[in-house]
Amino acid sequence: MSAVLKPAPALAPMREADLAEVIAVEDAIYSHPWTRGNFADSLAAGYECRTWRLEGELLGYFVLMVAAGEAHLLNLSVAPAWQRKGHGSALLREASAIARGLGARGIFLEVRPSNAGAQALYTRFGFRKIAVRRGYYPAHSGREDALVLTLALS
Ligand SMILES: CC(C)(COP(=O)(O)OP(=O)(O)OC[C@H]1O[C@@H](n2cnc3c(N)ncnc32)[C@H](O)[C@@H]1OP(=O)(O)O)[C@@H](O)C(=O)NCCC(=O)NCCS
Repeated sequence: MSAVLKPAPALAPMREADLAEVIAVEDAIYSHPWTRGNFADSLAAGYECRTWRLEGELLGYFVLMVAAGEAHLLNLSVAPAWQRKGHGSALLREASAIARGLGARGIFLEVRPSNAGAQALYTRFGFRKIAVRRGYYPAHSGREDALVLTLALS
């Protein structure tokens, strides 16, 4: 019997040419999405920006900043049709591996208290809450706090 190999998503460096698709996903999943300029700035700054594609289709992406032995996950996103299929977890594993490879001892990230889904993902991955940044995010009326989470990398 011949096995049928399921195509697997691939990680690749994010480029300017990806940004129209990235922005389309961003606009679909966030109340206050990053702008094209935010991504262009991240690319120009040399942050670790990656896409996650399956047969050309953009499933997700992340932006990771690594400096001075610490990593900061600035953006982690999965397109609506691809959520709850393990891609967010896969991207977290990829981001952790990159961070570890660049000498980071830990990863930090911010998440909205109202974003229960993302918190569930991070908690399951081993992140723990270490702080609250008051009024960190823009919100529909005023500002929303950020929970600061961290994961130690062995
Ligand atoms: C948060 C996000 C990245 C998760 O990606 P994903 O591909 O759906 O995550 P996974 O399929 O790997 O989920 C792994 C586990 O995390 C938890 N989880 C993920 N999304 C969840 C949700 N919406 N509600 C409850 N639990 C959730 C579950 O335990 C899930 O396992 P299960 O599906 O077997 O129950 C994705 O929903 C997303 O892009 N959301 C919009 C953008 C966002 O909020 N980004 C994070 C900003 S800090």
